[in-house]
Amino acid sequence: MCGIVGYIGPKEAYPILVKGLKRLEYRGYDSAGVALLNGNGIEIFKKQGKVIKMEGIMPSETPKATLGIGHTRWATHGIPSDENSHPHYSQSKNIAIIHNGIIENYASIKERLQGRGFTFKSDTDTEVLVNLIEDILLSEKVALAEAVRIALNQVVGAYAIAVIEEGNHDQIVVAKKGSPLVIGIGEGEYYIASDATPFIEYTKQAVYLEEEELAILSLSNGMELKSITNEIKTPYVQELEIELESIEKGGYDHFMLKEINEQPKSIFDTLRGRLLVNEGTIQLGGFNEFKNKFLSADRIIIVACGTSWHAGLVAEYLIEDLARIPVEVEYASEFRYRNPIITERDIVIAVSQSGETADTLSAIKLAKEKGATIFGVCNVVGSSIAREAHAGAYTHAGPEIGVASTKAFTAQVTIFTLIALTLARKKGTITESKFRQLINELDGMPDKVAETLKVDAQAKYIASVYKDVANCLFLGRGINFPVALEGALKLKEISYIHAEGYPAAEMKHGPIALIDEEMPTVVVATKTEHYEKVVSNIQEIKAREGKIIAVVTQGDTVISKIADHVIEVPYVDERLSPLVTSIPLQLISYHIAVMRGCNIDQPRNLAKSVTVE
Ligand code: F6R
Repeated sequence: MCGIVGYIGPKEAYPILVKGLKRLEYRGYDSAGVALLNGNGIEIFKKQGKVIKMEGIMPSETPKATLGIGHTRWATHGIPSDENSHPHYSQSKNIAIIHNGIIENYASIKERLQGRGFTFKSDTDTEVLVNLIEDILLSEKVALAEAVRIALNQVVGAYAIAVIEEGNHDQIVVAKKGSPLVIGIGEGEYYIASDATPFIEYTKQAVYLEEEELAILSLSNGMELKSITNEIKTPYVQELEIELESIEKGGYDHFMLKEINEQPKSIFDTLRGRLLVNEGTIQLGGFNEFKNKFLSADRIIIVACGTSWHAGLVAEYLIEDLARIPVEVEYASEFRYRNPIITERDIVIAVSQSGETADTLSAIKLAKEKGATIFGVCNVVGSSIAREAHAGAYTHAGPEIGVASTKAFTAQVTIFTLIALTLARKKGTITESKFRQLINELDGMPDKVAETLKVDAQAKYIASVYKDVANCLFLGRGINFPVALEGALKLKEISYIHAEGYPAAEMKHGPIALIDEEMPTVVVATKTEHYEKVVSNIQEIKAREGKIIAVVTQGDTVISKIADHVIEVPYVDERLSPLVTSIPLQLISYHIAVMRGCNIDQPRNLAKSVTVE
């Protein structure tokens, strides 16, 4: 949902901005632009399309500047176009701004400014904000930072902004509410970005802005941090742990493929230091602090979106089955708008890879107001949801850059397995021998996932057979029903093939009408409690000439005789099975999308971090 980047210091700004924008393209790729400040004033270069398109319009000699800001857009107000691209000038061209977020009351402010003689070149809410700043600067005769602060007190909505001013070579003003903004502190220089990836090779010292904070980054005076209500704050500088290699493709054609293949390691990293097999225990720091709340909770409500919501559904099966605590899983966007009944005895778990999803963040703010205990399961350290939660557990999957989520899903499922087992043991709803068996199996999951990844060639072959279909059905039962939903989401988002996930038994209540010889159905049919029933569901499809791609347990001799294709995965306890059954579905989607010539890491219309509601 838009990426922002900025630099002030002794170095050439443009190469830093461009490299940073490319790393932030996962946040949107409708347009890209930079504003550079030098002796000629503020020069803006911007273009609809990806960063590479913007590079194409740059003069052969890029203007020299040591201060600049850049933006990659995911369109909200106004179509993707050159005019609507950021940065935006103020009317006098003395101020330039980049913005991630939405100014909800932009229309009334625009009208007011138009009445005061301002004209607008774009349809964006951002151009309204920069002119509001200019209007205040001129009418109140205050400095830039103060004008920004006053303006932000007048806007409703979300923003991460960076503002620069003609002739002011010493300063960038930044502020944040609802959208992320991190400041990198180098030697006599500052970086700003939506996440730390644009500056990770330059500095590991970072300050994450909190809600409604404003910072003045000045080469002569250092960093000044305050709230938009003018309360002076002390910056909390933290040491980042991300390594450069983790945000590069490392020889893979796409980030998605790299991230699929990283799953043995990401699951291992999620378990590391938490699953202590030799001692027969699980240590989940953030969880221990609130374990009594969990144990006495009336229910657990899980809120999330997209893939994270699917991981939440897996969690429902795990926690209810093992720990016997009622769980409700809600789309964050629906939860907050239906006046939900939440009490102090509820635990609300927010699941989010990015930790920035606006709907999930708003849902937990609402639940917090009503007294619930908020637990975050996030991947991005220091993200807004992680900071808003009372406690939480990071998934430690490493940066996920491909827009389609893969390793974050399996890491989230891994965390939930740890939570469910911990709760079950504390509540006495699991026998000691079952607990030991499951933690031993969980410990072996990185190896089982590595073994599962060997189905890649088979997945590629299946992809070649079905790459041109118009529709595809995904079925699963029990804990593998969410895996079917996730399989369908992966296929539709990266290959643009219409796909639906269904509980296998629900098929006969409607979707079976879709089945004919053109329609492939991917069925998760591993050896579980529901195995026989799933075999019957497969028979029902075959009786209607549908094509079956079945994910089965190694050595299955029954389904291989009925299905058109089988992909074998290693046997694991049913409760852990999503960690292996999701892998072939990721691979099939990936290969189909490659064969259809789709943009794997940046599918059309999507962005990775959805910071608008
Ligand atoms: C699907 C996908 C999205 C996200 C969703 C939530 O591959 O990536 O559906 O899962 O936007 O994002 P997070 O987990 O960052 O809250």
